[in-house]
Parts: sequence; C-alpha cells; structure tokens
Amino acid sequence: MSAPLRLAILGTGRMGRIRAQHIFASPRFEIACVIDVNLQAAQSLASEFRVKNFSTTLSDFDYDGLVVSTPTFTHISAIEDCRDSVPIFLEKPIAEDAEGIRRAFEIAGKKGNKLCCGFQRRFDDTYVAGSTKVKNGEIGKVVNCNVIFGDHPCPSIEFLKEGGDIFMDLAPHDIDYVLNTLDDKIKNVYATGCSSDPVLKEAGVIDNATIICETVKGSTVNITMSRSAEYGYDQRCEFFGTKGSVHVGNYPKHHAVLSNSSGVTGSVLAHSFPQRFGQAFAKEMDEFADVMEGKKEWEVTQEDCIHVQNVAGAAGISYKEGRRVDV
Ligand SMILES: NC(=O)c1ccc[n+]([C@@H]2O[C@H](COP(=O)([O-])OP(=O)(O)OC[C@H]3O[C@@H](n4cnc5c(N)ncnc54)[C@H](O)[C@@H]3O)[C@@H](O)[C@H]2O)c1
Repeated sequence: MSAPLRLAILGTGRMGRIRAQHIFASPRFEIACVIDVNLQAAQSLASEFRVKNFSTTLSDFDYDGLVVSTPTFTHISAIEDCRDSVPIFLEKPIAEDAEGIRRAFEIAGKKGNKLCCGFQRRFDDTYVAGSTKVKNGEIGKVVNCNVIFGDHPCPSIEFLKEGGDIFMDLAPHDIDYVLNTLDDKIKNVYATGCSSDPVLKEAGVIDNATIICETVKGSTVNITMSRSAEYGYDQRCEFFGTKGSVHVGNYPKHHAVLSNSSGVTGSVLAHSFPQRFGQAFAKEMDEFADVMEGKKEWEVTQEDCIHVQNVAGAAGISYKEGRRVDV
C-alpha cells in the first residue's frame, strides 16, 4: 500500500470539523496540519485528531493536498497561499460570484493547482441512484423537477439577519445536482419568498423561498427552500418524465416503523447535513484522493460552478425586483 496522502486542513468550523472526521477515518490520508486564523481552534481540532502541526498560516508546513473549509470570501487567498502544484478541495461556492470563480480557477491554473469544488449530492448514493436513472432515460424526457430543501436546525435570527442568503447558501446544491442530472442549463428564473418571523420580516430577511426555472432544453425546475423546517433535515427531489418519475427520498434517523391501530409511525428525519450527507462527504474525500493520485479528474467543472452561481444570483435579483430574470 502506498504512503498516505498528507492533507492540510484550512478552517476548523462546521465544515472543517466534518472534513477532519472523514479524512481521519480514511486509510488513504494523513492530516499533515490544521490551520485556522483562530490558533486555539486549530490547536483544539489538531489535538482531537492527534495531529502535531497546527498554526494560523499555511506556509509553515509541507502537504500533498489542501482542503479549504474557510468562509467563501477567503477562498481566493487560500488558493494564493497554497503550495504550487497540489490539488485543492474547496467547499462550495468557490467564490461569491462568477468573476471570483473565474479568478480562482485562473490563479490555480497558473500555479498548477487543480480545484475541486464540493457539491455533495453528486457523491451521495441516493442522489446518484436517482440521477443515474434519469440519465439512463428510464423516465423518458424530463419535463419537470421539484425540489424541497428544508434546513434544520433553523439558524438563529441573528445569523439570518447578518447574512445567510437563502439563494446563495441553500439553492446552489440542488441547482448543481438537477442540472448535472438533466445535462441542461437554466434559461431564466422567477423567485419569491417570505419571512416566517415578524423580526425577520421587519429586517427584510426571507427564510422561505421558491425559485421557478425554465431550462434551455425546455423543462421546468421548482426549488422550494425553508430555513424553518422544525421537524428535521428535509431533502427531497422528484423528476417527472414522459415515461415515469424518479423520487429521491428523505433519510430518517432510523428505519424502525411502528404500526398500530393509531396509524403507522416512523422516526424523525436526520438531524442535519452532517448526518444526512455523511456517506457523501466521505466519498467526496475518497474521490479527491483519486484526483491527487492522478486516477481521475474532478467532475464539478469551472463552467458548472459559474453557471450555478449565476442562477443563484439571478434568483436573488428576481426576488428583489419581482420579475423573471434571464440567466
Ligand atoms: N457543503 C455543505 O453542505 C456546506 C455546509 C456549510 C458550509 N459550507 C461552506 O463551507 C465553507 C465554510 O463554512 P462553515 O460553515 O464551516 O464556516 P464556519 O464559520 O463554521 O468556520 C470557518 C472557520 O474558518 C476560520 N477562518 C476564517 N477565515 C480564515 C482564514 N483566512 N484562514 C484560516 N481560517 C479562517 C474561522 O476561524 C472558522 O474556524 C463556506 O464556504 C460555506 O459555504 C458548505
């Protein structure tokens, strides 16, 4: 067996912690170092995974690949700071707009760094099974796709007021998944939304939204998102075709079902994205190892990233201006 690939982990927040767990669990990797602007946070994650090296700067260490789990606005400087010629895995989105994404790929290209953007639905067994059936033509021509994204737990009102744009945070996952499945692009979007709480409404923040899209090949896509799914992490997607439909269903916390005279009762839904997408996060890291070893190319392209960001941006404009927007 070849020596493990040495990964640097940049960012030790929600995603950095998830990445560290999956990297630590894989025999293909070794955590070379943990970096965070917050030294204490870097030290804490490093000690949890028995890693000696931690710092606030990447330049202190040697590594074969970099995992960037810092806030989106820092991704370009992370690429600039990375060693030349090592692959980089970045959380979605690569940058906040199309221009930033182009710049990120351009800088990486000049330095010989491959950029691998994480969109976990592409690596999730259930989403991939659904996608494969559509791609194989098993439901004929897809005419409509309906997506539900119920986020859980509901972020605090403070978080939502400070940022957390629903079109930028939530929608990109499904836009990428649906378009990859349909091998299509979005032509135009109409978006609307509402606030579940008077404080949010007063602050002009929506925590529920729907995007209606027309694709270039002539299908419709509806994406309904909510930050206030009190009942669990609700992730569903349904493709309707001329010969059938494919449903990508939810994940319960467990599969035990009680049937009695009151009815049939199952478990609550998975708590949140780390639980629902654990398998996909592990697969993402495994395929990143394949890229590092030169065995495959990363399937999410620069063009994919730019189009997804353009669609999410157009949805935000549509909501603000109350009109259909061309992408
Ligand atoms: N795939 C998904 O489902 C998913 C879910 C959540 C977030 N994300 C993405 O992951 C990224 C990180 O989000 P998060 O929720 O983990 O953020 P977070 O705020 O929980 O963690 C960010 C960490 O990065 C550190 N940091 C900030 N600037 C830094 C810098 N310049 N250098 C080093 N460390 C720095 C912070 O101290 C913090 O520890 C974002 O791009 C976000 O869009 C993806």
